[in-house]
Amino acid sequence: MESFLIKGGSPLRGTVEISGSKNASLPIMAAALLTRETCVIRRVPDLSDTRFMVQILQSLGAEVKFAQGAVTIRAEKLKPHADYELVRKMRGSICIMGPLLARLQRARVSLPGGCIIGARPINLHLKGFDALGAKIQIQGGYVDAKATGLIGATMFLGGRSGSTVLGTVNVMMAAALAKGVTVIESAACEPEVVDLANFLNAMGAKISGAGSPTVTVTGVERLRGADHEVIPDRIEAATFMIAAAATNGEVTIQNAQPDHLRAVIDKLSEANVSVKRSGASLIVKRGGRLKSVDVTTLPHSGFPTDVQAQMMALLVLAPGISIITERIFESRFMHVSELARLGADIEIEGPSAIVKGGKPLSGAPVMASDLRASAALVIAGLAAKGTTQVNRIYHLDRGYEKMDRKLRLLGAHIRRVQE
Ligand code: EPZ
Repeated sequence: MESFLIKGGSPLRGTVEISGSKNASLPIMAAALLTRETCVIRRVPDLSDTRFMVQILQSLGAEVKFAQGAVTIRAEKLKPHADYELVRKMRGSICIMGPLLARLQRARVSLPGGCIIGARPINLHLKGFDALGAKIQIQGGYVDAKATGLIGATMFLGGRSGSTVLGTVNVMMAAALAKGVTVIESAACEPEVVDLANFLNAMGAKISGAGSPTVTVTGVERLRGADHEVIPDRIEAATFMIAAAATNGEVTIQNAQPDHLRAVIDKLSEANVSVKRSGASLIVKRGGRLKSVDVTTLPHSGFPTDVQAQMMALLVLAPGISIITERIFESRFMHVSELARLGADIEIEGPSAIVKGGKPLSGAPVMASDLRASAALVIAGLAAKGTTQVNRIYHLDRGYEKMDRKLRLLGAHIRRVQE
């Protein structure tokens, strides 16, 4: 297994280019199953998650090529079920269900396992498919959905933690070819949902309201191929913004979409980090001493749960008490014990982590756990004195394209080594 070896203490300086969004790419790649025609999806980041999705689509019978950031998909022939092991390995693959149901009136996928951040149920996805007339059966670790023609319906997709991103995109894709009108209430408003809706509309779908809590889909007979460039990865952008502040450097974030980052920019400004827009770029540096702030994660356009761990790594450096409350997932504090190994003083109280910030960090070997927790450890290692070894960085390779290379170009002392 591979690790990152980080020698901390160098301020990050220079310009970083943000890649295309992982969480926009996965549903859009799945949406290409809705047509027999060829789809081209550009600026897809080269990650283990996107490569997994290529394999899953190929296991369903689609022809898929992935070169120079462009994924070309032609799903002329299609099977209703994907490779059990492949689907189990990546939660994001659940979004093949909607297209399979819409195209074949049948979808059989392995129940996506929970993961380290929570149980990750799919009850809301199934509630949506049921509302469209599908019959759902769960047995032997598989969920089996069958329909004799999907019919548009109105449904409420809010759950105990608010809206569901992949639930919303799954139902949108199924509804695109259903007979009649579907209204999704309490739909997720994330930019990745809007990007998928734009792709579907380019394919000939009739979707309005994406990005708002009420999405309306008027079913059509068939969809055509389309050519689409995915939005920038707002979580990668936020990660580099926070790394710039944590190392007291100055970084220009190129190719970000500032409108997707309002809550992050607002919270960083409150912590005394200056974020200046110049065109499509953001220039990030500290505005003086870091200030402790309180953060609560919420569905978009609230503070994103996928930036919670990285923000905690920054607030560990801010003198005073910061309270970080995780409202989306039930156990997304795996980074706390590893940050403590670097000298952080954090106590967990239910859904909140109480960060007593301002003590200097010193390097140590730490263990990556989930994708964003691993990013937090890299940020803390960059700010700590001495050497930090972040183990099991396969977690990072799932969601960050060439992270070590991008950081080295900003002056970080980081290299990939065998554990
Ligand atoms: C997407 O996951 C993202 N993944 C996650 O990013 C992100 O953290 C999450 O949305 C929230 O923004 C992809 O887009 C591939 P949810 P998703 O359904 O759609 C509960 C990363 O690091 N829920 O919005 O699976 C669920 O348990 C990843 O890039 C139900 O109760 O998340 C959670 O508490 C991690 N029933 C909350 O809703 C359901 O049927 C939000 O989950 C579905 C979800």
